[in-house]
Amino acid sequence: MDKIVIEGGFPLNGEIAISGAKNSAIKLMAVTLLTDQPIVLKNMPRLRDTRSMGQLLKHMGVEVDHGAGSEMKLHAAKLSGTTAPYDLVRKMRATFNVLGPLLARTGEAKVSLPGGCAIGARPVDLHLKALQALGADIQLDEGYVNAAAKNGLTGAEITFPFVSVGATEHTMLAAVLAKGETVLYNAAREPEIIDLAECLNAMGAKITGAGRSEVHIEGVSSLCGVTHHVVPDRIEAGTYALAAATAGGSVRLTNIRSDHLGALWPLIAQAGAKVSLDETTVLIERGGGRPKPVDVDTMAYPGFPTDLQAQFMAFMCLADGVSIIRENIFENRFMHCPELSRMGADITVTGREAIVRGVKEFRAAPVMATDLRASASLINAGLAARGETHIGRVYHLDRGFEHIEVKLGQCGARIRREAE
Ligand code: EPZ
Repeated sequence: MDKIVIEGGFPLNGEIAISGAKNSAIKLMAVTLLTDQPIVLKNMPRLRDTRSMGQLLKHMGVEVDHGAGSEMKLHAAKLSGTTAPYDLVRKMRATFNVLGPLLARTGEAKVSLPGGCAIGARPVDLHLKALQALGADIQLDEGYVNAAAKNGLTGAEITFPFVSVGATEHTMLAAVLAKGETVLYNAAREPEIIDLAECLNAMGAKITGAGRSEVHIEGVSSLCGVTHHVVPDRIEAGTYALAAATAGGSVRLTNIRSDHLGALWPLIAQAGAKVSLDETTVLIERGGGRPKPVDVDTMAYPGFPTDLQAQFMAFMCLADGVSIIRENIFENRFMHCPELSRMGADITVTGREAIVRGVKEFRAAPVMATDLRASASLINAGLAARGETHIGRVYHLDRGFEHIEVKLGQCGARIRREAE
């Protein structure tokens, strides 16, 4: 297993090009199951999670070719099976989203339930209720969902009791081939949902309203192939913006959609860093002096993303005062707090709230990654800490950050990967 070693305490200076969004890419890969025509995805990040989805698709007979660059070709001319086994689904829970498209294309699917994960229980009840509303017969047996829709799926009106990114996307992936109209109420509005809808529409689907709470999907009988450019990764961009704000220096991020991080920029500025934006780039500058404390509440888009909560907390650990960070999306997403405390942070967690009393500096320490975004917060803390920070269990990071040592190294970070 690898670890990341950072010799911290130096400002970052340079430029980082942001990759395509992991959380869009893996759902876009599932689109291939809806058509026998080829799909080409450009701006595809090279990540452990995209590899996991690729493995599952190959298991079902899909040709998957990621080549050497950032283009991925997928072709599900014929499916050899409609089962997603536990061993492949447990590696990456979003693989569960193949259930809807398999049902829509073949009328049957057997997909392992994903189980819980480090940040919470993460049930899939909304996914299953939505598929049932579309007419699927769903049986749970020995940890698997056995689903059937022998006469195809039928459009329905579906009201989600709360906002779920995965359930919104999953329902869209099934309803595009259903008979008649589906209307989603209280749908998630994340940029990745718009990206998925744009890809599906370019294949011949009829989706309107993606990015708003009410989404209309007029089912079509077949979909064609497509070449689609994956939307930039707003969480990768936010992570590096916060790395610059935490370690100090001047970093320009390119290939971003700055409007997708509307909830982050004002908070970084409020904390005292300079944020200069245009549509596709941002320059983050922070000189001497400690950041000011800023409170954060995570919310569904367009609110502050839960996927940047840990990284913002690492920033606030160095603030000159107390900040309160509330996690409203996942029940157990404070696993980074004890690790940040090992580096000298002063954090008290009560339920969904963390009280962060700023300290003057981080102290380098051996720490352990617990999930993907928690790992990113430890990297940012390590960049600011004087001395050598060793971050174990790096496979979490490799799930969602492409070439992280290379990208930060370009900005002068003294960061390397070593075998543990
Ligand atoms: C997506 O997860 C992202 N994952 C997450 O990113 C992200 O944190 C999350 O959306 C919120 O933005 C991918 O896109 C692959 P939800 P998802 O359904 O779709 C509960 C990362 O680090 N819920 O919006 O699983 C759920 O437990 C990951 O990249 C149910 O109760 O999130 C959570 O508390 C982590 N029943 C809340 O809803 C359901 O059927 C929101 O989850 C579905 C969800």
